[in-house]
Amino acid sequence: MDIREGIKLKDHTTFHIGGPADFFVQVDSTEALQATVRTAHTKKLPLTIIGGGSNMLVADEGICGLVIKMCIQGIAYTAISEYEVMVCAGAGVILDDLVRDTVEKGYWGLENLSAIPGTVGATPLQNVGAYGVEVASKIMEVEAYDTEQETMRVFTNVECAFGYRASFFKTDAGKKYIITQVSFRLTKIPAPHVQYADLRRVFSDAHPTQKEIRDTVIEIRSKKFPDWHSVGTAGSFFKNPFVSKEKFANIKLHYPELPGYEHIDGTIKIPLGWVLDKIVRMRGVRQGRVGSYEGQALVIVNYGGATARDVDIFASSIEEKVSHILGVTIEREVRMYV
Ligand code: EPU
Repeated sequence: MDIREGIKLKDHTTFHIGGPADFFVQVDSTEALQATVRTAHTKKLPLTIIGGGSNMLVADEGICGLVIKMCIQGIAYTAISEYEVMVCAGAGVILDDLVRDTVEKGYWGLENLSAIPGTVGATPLQNVGAYGVEVASKIMEVEAYDTEQETMRVFTNVECAFGYRASFFKTDAGKKYIITQVSFRLTKIPAPHVQYADLRRVFSDAHPTQKEIRDTVIEIRSKKFPDWHSVGTAGSFFKNPFVSKEKFANIKLHYPELPGYEHIDGTIKIPLGWVLDKIVRMRGVRQGRVGSYEGQALVIVNYGGATARDVDIFASSIEEKVSHILGVTIEREVRMYV
């Protein structure tokens, strides 16, 4: 167990922001994880788990206690039937490595999630979704370590209680679990999901291959999201808000062009990127070392040397503007460690 001190978390987050961890360790097996958690308990150190660090904003002061970087690897396929396969991936597998592998093997299901930064273990946590597909629709089971009982547990899809950018693992009761492995149900039968506007425009009524979908998603994303290797970002900073039908109709009176998508519960999901761009006029707006991205207003970027405080102040100003102009409270999608 190689526990190190004072590792800078800015080197482990895609925002390139974050002070030191008191203690930092990379774990690459469930056994190592169990031993590490036991050590943390003995030394009374609070635990924080990170994967690709792609959806977090870490305080400039850093994180107290022990930060565990999840590095459990492995991708294994098991046939379920003649047409279906289960793929189990370690929580530390880079999501896009898994997506590429499934596309190369011809197993349909994850191709719309191409080029999303981060690791497999983080996907159930916030029910990662893009271009019309959420992982919730593909996940069979999630294996996790109960840090209180010190036992492994397997969650069925239903037990994960998935919602929009939400799951059981984000709730207070779910926080004691560390996800170690995720299994997905994929199919050999071509099943293109191209209803999402950006994809529909490209494919209309054609029957794209998996590779074509993957390549198109990568191309679209490269225009909307900066490459985090060079520009610090955590992708969409906010969740898209849901409002009642009445509220939506009210806002429409002032902004007739506002798009909205009805949810199964009858509420309307508003594309916040559109609101920030067309109403709040915040696309490509820069404030010192931070700003909203030119290609997608929902994305906040660190233009170099920004602090967590800079981002927090900028994000708060957006929240206030949306609340003031639309009367809608927005929530952060990025997890705050501040
Ligand atoms: N739009 C604008 N201007 C902008 C941004 C968006 O007019 O600056 C419009 C778009 O033209 C579109 C609508 O707003 O009509 C929605 O935008 P987009 O399709 O880009 O998707 P999004 O709702 O902003 C969500 C996810 C992304 C995911 C994309 C693609 C959330 C918070 N974000 O973004 O997920 O990649 O859909 O499916 O749900 C993430 O969660 O970090 C993330 C990147």
